[in-house]
Amino acid sequence: MKYTHLTASAGFPLRIAVLSDFHSRTGEMGTDGILEGLAREKPDLILSPGDIFNGISESSVREDFNISGLKLLEGAACIAPVFYSIGNHELGMTGENRRILESAGITVLDNEFTRHKHLIIAGLTSGYTMPKHHYQGDPVPSLEIAERLRQEEGYKILLCHHPEYRDRYLKDEEIHLIVSGHAHGGQWRFGSRGVYAPGQGLFPRYVGGLYPGKHGILCVSRGMRNTVKIPRFFNPCEIVILDLK
Ligand SMILES: [Fe+2]
Repeated sequence: MKYTHLTASAGFPLRIAVLSDFHSRTGEMGTDGILEGLAREKPDLILSPGDIFNGISESSVREDFNISGLKLLEGAACIAPVFYSIGNHELGMTGENRRILESAGITVLDNEFTRHKHLIIAGLTSGYTMPKHHYQGDPVPSLEIAERLRQEEGYKILLCHHPEYRDRYLKDEEIHLIVSGHAHGGQWRFGSRGVYAPGQGLFPRYVGGLYPGKHGILCVSRGMRNTVKIPRFFNPCEIVILDLK
C-alpha cells in the first residue's frame, strides 16, 4: 500500500488523510503498521468515506470479520479527528454499532453534517444500506443532506462513498470537496484509465485522484485493500494524503 500525495487549493492549509475501502483486511502491514505510517504523515483531519468494515448487517462491529476495521478507526482517532460515512458494505451501522464508534471518538455522519472549526463536514450514506431485495437497479440515496447543506455557509466537505453520485445527484450542489472511494481504482489501470468500477461499469470516469468540477473538487481514493480475487494491475492500494493550500 502506498501513500498518494495530492494538492488542491482551498484558501487555507489543511492536511487530510483519506481512509477508504479497507474492508476490514489487514494485509501484510497489519493495522499497527498502517497506523504508524498514518501518524508519520501528521494529518490534521482523517476522512473515511466508507467500506471500512466488511458487511455490518446485524452483527456488531466487534465481530471477528470487522474487528480490523474497528481497530483502524479507533487507532486513527488517536492521531487526528476522524469523520466517517457509510458505504455499501455497512448496512446496519446504527444503534450499538454506532455507539461503539462514537465512544472511540469517531464522528459518524449518517446523512448528517457537523461543524469542525471553519469546516462543514457531511456524510451522504450509500443508497445500498437497505436489505438487498429492496433494490431495483442502483438504489437512490437519501439526498436530504444535500438540501440541508445549501442553507449552510462555510467550506463544505461531503464524504460520499460512491464517486458516481457526483454526476448523478450532486452536480449542481455548491460543495467544495467531495471525498469518495468505492471504485477500487478500476481494478486494472491502463494509462490513466481504469477498466471496471461498481456503479460506473466499464471504463469508469472516476477511479482515483482529483477531478475538478463546476463547484468543487472530487477526490477519489483507490481504496486500501483489494476485495476481489482478481489481482490489481498498476493500481496499488493507497491512503490518499490531500494537502489543501
Ligand atoms: Fe463500496
